[in-house]
Amino acid sequence: MRKIKKIGVLTSGGDAPGMNAAIRAVTRAGISNGLEVYGIMRGYEGMIDADIRRLLSGDVSGILQKGGTILKTARSKRFREYEFRQQAYENLKAIGIDALVVIGGDGSFKGATEFSLEFDIPVVGLPGTIDNDMFGTNYTIGYDTCLNTVMEAVDKIRDTASSHNRVFFIEVMGREAGFVALHGGIACGAEAILIPEVKGQLDSLMQLLSSPERQNKSSIILVAEGHTEGTTFEIAEKVRQTFPSLDVRVTILGHIQRGGSPTAYDRVSASRLGVAAVEALLDDQKSIMIGIQSGEIVHVPLSKTVKQNREVSQSLLDVAKRLV
Ligand code: F6P
Repeated sequence: MRKIKKIGVLTSGGDAPGMNAAIRAVTRAGISNGLEVYGIMRGYEGMIDADIRRLLSGDVSGILQKGGTILKTARSKRFREYEFRQQAYENLKAIGIDALVVIGGDGSFKGATEFSLEFDIPVVGLPGTIDNDMFGTNYTIGYDTCLNTVMEAVDKIRDTASSHNRVFFIEVMGREAGFVALHGGIACGAEAILIPEVKGQLDSLMQLLSSPERQNKSSIILVAEGHTEGTTFEIAEKVRQTFPSLDVRVTILGHIQRGGSPTAYDRVSASRLGVAAVEALLDDQKSIMIGIQSGEIVHVPLSKTVKQNREVSQSLLDVAKRLV
């Protein structure tokens, strides 16, 4: 059994509220177990450029309530090449970092999986993405805060939509997954929800909007950005042309969904994950993601998380349908 002495922590990919809570938890749990903890700046980019600094307990004070990530983040193209991964490994070795905690989404985990196979260094991943689309966990850091941001924004749009009897298409994030749109849509009582996982939704939308009762009422249509039947603007245009009497508007919520102070749920869950990551490394675990399923911490092989997609719940789709 090897004895870990120094761990590195980094955030990678799209930032998510609660990442700071996870960094704080990794740092403090590491220190309280006698480890040295190092923050790697700008994700894998900082690992390649040796932009790495020691984190003491005081360095993570006052960050729990802050959105974003104090370690900064990046989507590193260079890390896809072996040559740069090797350079990153040499940089870790020079400091003596003998284990890594990677906080990010599936793109980040692809890099982590490769790195942990190529070099003799245990890696633990923590799921951090507002998309909540990681296989093997029901929870990802930042999703709850994002959902609450979406809910507040859509509620506000609903006020003006209903005052004018307008049809609003509201685009939310989710390049490949519809979790934000589906859960956000239910939370806001959206009249329709368009997500990439379900085909043929445009026909049912047209049917819905053609019904006499929708003519003098507002409608909120939540669209995941990865929807496959065209961009949100194109879909809205089709509706305009098919129903000239409807007053149609489009709002793209955009990066507001990635910011803000994390909710209590994100703070607590990200803290649990951070502590569990350190415990797993001390327990000689490697190449795993730590997730949460049914409220409990779970360990999932990293390789599994990058090969499979998390599926949207059919029962939740049924709930959404029944509530219109
Ligand atoms: O992966 C998280 C995510 O927020 C996606 O939902 C979105 O498509 C993407 O990141 C946007 O990324 P960027 O900020 O790099 O444009």
